[in-house]
Amino acid sequence: MCGIIGILSKENVAPRLIEGLSRLEYRGYDSAGIAVLNGGPIQRTRAKGKLQNLRDKLKENPLHGTAGIGHTRWATHGGPTEDNAHPHATEKVAVVHNGIIENYAALKAELTAKQVRFETDTDTEVIAHLVDDYLKSGHSPKEAADKTFARLEGAYAIVMIFTGEDNLMIGCRQGTPLAVGYGTGEMFVASDSYALAPLTKKICFLEDGDRVIVSREKATIYTNDNDNVERPIRITAQSGATTGKGNFRHFMLKEIYEQPSVIGDTLNSFINPANGEITIPPAVLSALETTPRITLIACGTAYYACMVAKYWFEQTARIPCEIDIASEFRYREPPMPEGGLALFVSQSGETLDTLQALRYCKQQGQTILSIVNAVESTIERESDLVLHTLAGPEIGVASTKAFTTQLTTLACLALSIALKKGTITAEQSSVIAEELRHIPAQIQTILNEEERSKNALTIAGDIFKSQDMLYLGRNLLYPVAMEGALKLKEVSYIHAEGYAAGELKHGPIALIDDNMPIVVLAPANDPLFEKTASNLQENVARGAKVLLISDKKGHETLKDFAKWTIEIQDTHPFVAPILYAVPIQLIAYHVAVTKGTDVDQPRNLAKSVTVE
Ligand code: AGP
Repeated sequence: MCGIIGILSKENVAPRLIEGLSRLEYRGYDSAGIAVLNGGPIQRTRAKGKLQNLRDKLKENPLHGTAGIGHTRWATHGGPTEDNAHPHATEKVAVVHNGIIENYAALKAELTAKQVRFETDTDTEVIAHLVDDYLKSGHSPKEAADKTFARLEGAYAIVMIFTGEDNLMIGCRQGTPLAVGYGTGEMFVASDSYALAPLTKKICFLEDGDRVIVSREKATIYTNDNDNVERPIRITAQSGATTGKGNFRHFMLKEIYEQPSVIGDTLNSFINPANGEITIPPAVLSALETTPRITLIACGTAYYACMVAKYWFEQTARIPCEIDIASEFRYREPPMPEGGLALFVSQSGETLDTLQALRYCKQQGQTILSIVNAVESTIERESDLVLHTLAGPEIGVASTKAFTTQLTTLACLALSIALKKGTITAEQSSVIAEELRHIPAQIQTILNEEERSKNALTIAGDIFKSQDMLYLGRNLLYPVAMEGALKLKEVSYIHAEGYAAGELKHGPIALIDDNMPIVVLAPANDPLFEKTASNLQENVARGAKVLLISDKKGHETLKDFAKWTIEIQDTHPFVAPILYAVPIQLIAYHVAVTKGTDVDQPRNLAKSVTVE
């Protein structure tokens, strides 16, 4: 949610600010802007829409400066217009901000009473005017910034530059991330290490409540009590290389096609190829072994991965689980068991709802285990135990390979603890581990088959004009149905819901008519296949047009009831969620492309959600 970058150098910083913003565009792409200093007044250029619009403006009227800040926005307060784009500035100060200032209305009223004129609908503008007000009262930039920070409520990261101070940036972190990069004779700040990686490998992550004064020579970090603090400087593992689309039309498609390889990498990090044994770090296993309950918490796609894992942990490892979306969990203040384990799943590792729920669980004395994809994230740093999914950078806003690698990791965890607890036999475990090892090849077969038959593409051509769709599944495939609906909503803007197939008759079946395609996930070897088959027929009897995703036997049984079919290989029910995720991704992708939406950067979304 909004990306921040700042550079102090001896050279013109504008091109590198733009390059940094291109690496931060996943955090928001409503509008973007930069402000620079070159010995005179603040100069800034902002543009509505994609970063390319800012690039085009700067090509016509370049900015030059040796100090500068940049921002890519995901709108919270005020629409995505050029006026509302950051940096926000007065004559004396320019500000970029990620997060929300919750008390902005009161601050705005106070400033308006002092005859300050506001030009935007944003919460951020109050920061610029507050600082300006303190500067006008004779305070130094540091004093003005500190006095301003002290008055802000909410979660935010802020960076500012000041007229007449070409060797100064002041920043702070309160709830949303900010990192400092150390160069030679130049210094940087940014929302994440990914943006800093092409500029420097030496990075320091601010902690909540930290403020920082940056010059070309050094960074001084201090707390809100004005005490200087040292934060470790790390060598980042992020690559400075740019992730491209290769020969693919969209990142989403590329990432769908990467799944055989990244699931293979993730599996290889857990399964010994020589003997097929799953190896999980002992500290993780012993935390799982001793916990009276696992609390699974995440948002969006990662939450659906947790939902699948709940079935695995309960059915296979016989561990009681509780599960919730992070934004609800945190505020319902649930009591937590002594010695409990809380498991967090996040692609970005920066999702603020998830992070806040993690902090709540920490306060409740839980051991925190996280499964994250992006390295060096805040969630990783605040966890006791961490496992990485090896999906590599996921650029498409709609999560695909992150989901299947999360499932892969959770499957290995559940299997491993089930074996350790003796709730499955060694033989059962090795049968499932072997099935897991087949998954990359099976996904490759699904992708090859799609290349050959263009089946999902053809189905998309039939359904892309639908207003609504339903996705049905039972048991382990119920969460996959939810994920299928989320995927479709995100990239095609078609309203879709995922339902437990058995729940439809308790209400939503009233929606069924021949205008609403229903996707049914029903592998024949699932223990509940017969029941799902009955549910499918109940819908067909009411005029529903069904897309059946099933295996050979499922097709033989149900093909006469389905208008469309996607047949995939037989697989063990335990691993079916990983395999069945792929056709629903392909359907969402092709529907979106057929509709002509912006697949990789769908409207209103951002890849990393760092506001509550
Ligand atoms: C998935 O397609 C979404 N874009 C979204 O639901 C995402 O999974 C959610 O915001 C959680 O993100 P995280 O995994 O980075 O924490």
